[in-house]
Amino acid sequence: MRTETPPTIRLEDYRPSSHLIDRVELDVRLAPHETRITATLALRPNPAGEPGVPLVLDGDDVILLALDLDGQALPPDAYAATPSGLTLHRPPARPFTLRIETQVDPTANTKLMGLYRSNGVYCTQCEADGFRRITYFLDRPDVLSVYTTRIEAERDAAPVLLGNGNPVAAGEAGEGRHYAVWHDPHPKPAYLFALVGGRLDKVATRFTTMEGRDVAVAVYVEPGQEPRADYALGAVLRSMRWDEEAFGRAYDLDVFNVVAVSDFNMGAMENKGLNIFNDKYVLASPETATDQDYANIEAIIAHEYFHNWSGNRVTCRDWFQLCLKEGLTVFRDQEFSSDMRSRAVHRIGEVRTLRARQFPEDAGPLAHPVRPRAYAEINNFYTATVYEKGAEIVRMLSTLVGPAPFRAGMDRYYAQNDGRAATVEDFLDAFAVESGRDLAAFAQWYEWPGTPRVEVEGRYDAAERRYTLRFSQDLRGGAPPLVIPVALGLVGASGPISEATCPEVRDGVFVLDRTSAGLTFTNVPEAPVPSLFRGFSAPVRVEIALSDAERLTLLRHDTDAFNRWQAAQSIAMRLLADRGTARAREAEDAGPAAQAYAEALAAFLDAEALADPAFAALVLGLPGEGDVANEIGSDIDPDAIHRARQSLRRHLGRALGERLSRLRADLTEAPGTPFSPDAASAGRRALRNAALDLIAAADPVRGTALARAQIDEATNMTDRLAALGILSLIPGEPREAALAAFGERYADEPLVLDKWFAIQAAIPEDATLARIARLRQHRAFSMTNPNRVRALIGSFALANPTQFNRLDGAGFTLLAETVEALDRTNPQIAAKLLTNFGSWRRLEPARSSKAGEILARIKAVPGLSRDVADIVARTLS
Ligand code: PHE
Ligand code: ZN
Repeated sequence: MRTETPPTIRLEDYRPSSHLIDRVELDVRLAPHETRITATLALRPNPAGEPGVPLVLDGDDVILLALDLDGQALPPDAYAATPSGLTLHRPPARPFTLRIETQVDPTANTKLMGLYRSNGVYCTQCEADGFRRITYFLDRPDVLSVYTTRIEAERDAAPVLLGNGNPVAAGEAGEGRHYAVWHDPHPKPAYLFALVGGRLDKVATRFTTMEGRDVAVAVYVEPGQEPRADYALGAVLRSMRWDEEAFGRAYDLDVFNVVAVSDFNMGAMENKGLNIFNDKYVLASPETATDQDYANIEAIIAHEYFHNWSGNRVTCRDWFQLCLKEGLTVFRDQEFSSDMRSRAVHRIGEVRTLRARQFPEDAGPLAHPVRPRAYAEINNFYTATVYEKGAEIVRMLSTLVGPAPFRAGMDRYYAQNDGRAATVEDFLDAFAVESGRDLAAFAQWYEWPGTPRVEVEGRYDAAERRYTLRFSQDLRGGAPPLVIPVALGLVGASGPISEATCPEVRDGVFVLDRTSAGLTFTNVPEAPVPSLFRGFSAPVRVEIALSDAERLTLLRHDTDAFNRWQAAQSIAMRLLADRGTARAREAEDAGPAAQAYAEALAAFLDAEALADPAFAALVLGLPGEGDVANEIGSDIDPDAIHRARQSLRRHLGRALGERLSRLRADLTEAPGTPFSPDAASAGRRALRNAALDLIAAADPVRGTALARAQIDEATNMTDRLAALGILSLIPGEPREAALAAFGERYADEPLVLDKWFAIQAAIPEDATLARIARLRQHRAFSMTNPNRVRALIGSFALANPTQFNRLDGAGFTLLAETVEALDRTNPQIAAKLLTNFGSWRRLEPARSSKAGEILARIKAVPGLSRDVADIVARTLS
């Protein structure tokens, strides 16, 4: 394995495949170590490809057992086979059939790509390039084939055999073995192939599509877990109905199966008719899952289901177009969740994720365009930028063209590209036609990395009753001006100013498409406060000089819930960023700005907390330490930020304490109220727990008592875990006792222990490193399970800024050692962990140089995987 300079694949080098594969017949005989696969491929030269060239099939770690062409064995000089490829030097210039027999070892497959076993269950993961780990193939998304799959296994080991498409036959295969045949009539690329074989139980129901198709829907889980699959099953039905109602998309097979497995690199996978999930995003019960887990399950079930159209029926021409399916499908799942829950609350959550994950990525060495132009390892491009910024681009498009043309554009996109592998250009074309707009300038959003900054200045002319706004956008690194939809309005001292008008603002939206532009509102009776980028109408950073008083006007009177929340956040952010620098004094006294902020929150809570607890919980929540670091931007001192945030929490807790206690009492469910994961109940829990967090910050003794009581009395995981998290920040015996008891109570619940690992990894204390070292020895911890690694090591890097960024470098070293160890078994997870170094250059110099040293050490490790070599090279660049 030589990894110095991984070869770069470039968008501009795209060429159609030399050959196409119309039909694939697979015969897979499952066995723990010697699984044999016979692939019969109906090949033909691609009329759009280069004629007369060799046929080069991809392979990765496969053993070739046999090969014939149209039933004839090939002479040895006609082909060359290695574990990583099979070349036919002179393929026929006409359609032909290739029969390839390969062997793979699913038990030894620790990369969790291709065919592997998770807790004994055979399963596959083929995106992006795992199919070549099963058989030699043209493993690229623009080669679409109709698959028939025969799966054979020992009946006892694998009574359930699932494939893509519809089941067409099943029976005995002798010697205790049985088989099932599945046929998928929809042409698909190899990355959507899947099979499952194992001992599984299911919950099942039926759904009738708007076209009248009767669909058998099932969720498969490990035996005994069926009660925990009901919520996911319900989410499938809601997703099916919603895609029909919102987008006119019906399901297109007779069965839809979801399978939960415990070893999975990502969240879930949209294989045609057979979605395979990380069990974390399927299994839920009130005792084991938090409200956030329920929301995630609903969103990810929807996401994978929606891929059936946005990704499967219309797929991607090449991996540079990944956002074509991912950004679009995230947009679709966000819209679904907004319809199922509270739109405003959901939008705030989306933006928090975007700012916490995507903005730092876009500001660091791993920044890339939503449609990258080059990659060394595609698995490193399943990023917040492709997914979340990709979704924001689709959202901006819908804002620009308006609801009806947007829907018509989606219909046109599906109609024109059904059964094809499409590009971002194909997508935009559909909307250009339906809206009559030229979208060429808008398309630049796909091409440039970096978060645009928009500066805004406002000026009121009382005599003329005129208000002018001046916008300018920075052109990062020579980018042309972007097309930026600005949803906006004006707010006065006692409410929205609805009589003001401005010709450039249509349906509440102004489109900024030049470097700078001015707007004039007339008929403005008082000095207004501008409410800009309502609903976060574009993924930009906004710079505008507003006073706290003006922001409080927005919090009080804006009609846009997102901007009300944003106003409160901006005030808190200013307080935190000003005090979160190394130079700031360790001011315990809060100062007048913090006082005023607390008073405004008090008034807000009195007026609205009980009417919309979910929203109130968000308003009460302070920006995270990572958010503050991103705001400060350079010379970051995580300890100073931590102190500043602790001090503001304490201050708010003191100022609001009584009110928060009253709120907690008012929001307590009557004893015996059955648990419901619905948004309203979840919102009440969120506010009670946000209140407890501040109470405990101000008064740790009282906080300890309340948290302990809540841990004991909780009837659901949300409340129990929130209390444990709050207690985990208060050093002392009660914390240790509570952690120990929790660990024992859930000793046989891996997904709950993940939460327990994560809470402990995030404790902002020097002793946490030793604690993590102990937890790595815990019976339930395992380096081969991605969820466990993410829970303990990932949470440390992500949620414990003071310890990860320790001055002595010990936090960096812990991560580096984990990355090195993991790289030998699961490079994808190793590379993902390594991305936590992404902001290293922005740390204050002492920490930054420590991080740099440790990155250089990783880079020098011989035999790094391409995944890790790529991340480390780009992080250091
Ligand atoms: N395509 C999956 C999704 O829905 C993500 C994924 C990518 C899963 C690669 C596995 C491997 O987002
Ligand atoms: Zn997806």
